[in-house]
Amino acid sequence: MDTGKLPVHVGVIMDGNGRWAKKRLMPRKLGHKFGMDRMIGLAEHAKSSGVKYLTVYVMSTENLARRSKDEIEGLFTLIRKYFTVNVKKLFDRGSGIKVIGDTSVLPDDVIKILEDADNASPENPDFTLVFAINYGGRGEIVNAVNKAVINGGKVDENSFASLLYTGGIPDPDLIIRTGGEMRLSNFLTYQSAYAELYFTDVLFPDFSDAEFDKALTDYAARERRFGKA
Ligand code: IPE
Ligand code: IPE
Ligand code: MG
Repeated sequence: MDTGKLPVHVGVIMDGNGRWAKKRLMPRKLGHKFGMDRMIGLAEHAKSSGVKYLTVYVMSTENLARRSKDEIEGLFTLIRKYFTVNVKKLFDRGSGIKVIGDTSVLPDDVIKILEDADNASPENPDFTLVFAINYGGRGEIVNAVNKAVINGGKVDENSFASLLYTGGIPDPDLIIRTGGEMRLSNFLTYQSAYAELYFTDVLFPDFSDAEFDKALTDYAARERRFGKA
């Protein structure tokens, strides 16, 4: 592929785990387990494709507020059981991880796992997995506004962007949503202003490396004009 047409930063709204499980008469939690496995596989694949940042939407602020305790606890258990081991494998090959979202309200041991992973990231990784957990785009903007107010003085678009959780990370070039819904559900609200959007009906646990490649091919054929004629 022409690397000029390769997205630097891809965001993935990993939707459809629940429906995937339901189709197989499994509990939703098991759908999340298969989703988590697929996420790790996809990170490896995105990295070998030459993508520099993959932002994965693991849990929204709305999910945390509105889903059953059992389902949310299931997601935390997955982080406790699989995240450390699998993410470590990524690190061993020079990759980094950055956690975005309001982690302060998560269970203490989960906060520690995420902080340790973030802190252990190498300085200039060749690939970064951005892990969005208890993340909401509007909350992120309000959080940045409050930082700006405390700092005092005016901000411009660039200095404001540096106050977001994603400060220092380029805007997403491509946002993929699996699971058939055509909405962003509070994902990268500020950063997505000029992102190319790709929607697929494939449920996330079935979103294979080949499906990811299809999205990259689709992206490569698009003309990004950024307001030019
Ligand atoms: C996405 O899958 C993962 C999370 C939101 C945690 P869903 O759990 O939303 O799956 P569906 O949309 O119910 O199929
Ligand atoms: C978006 O999926 C959040 C994640 C994938 C983590 P949802 O399934 O929560 O989105 P809505 O509620 O259908 O918009
Ligand atoms: Mg969903």
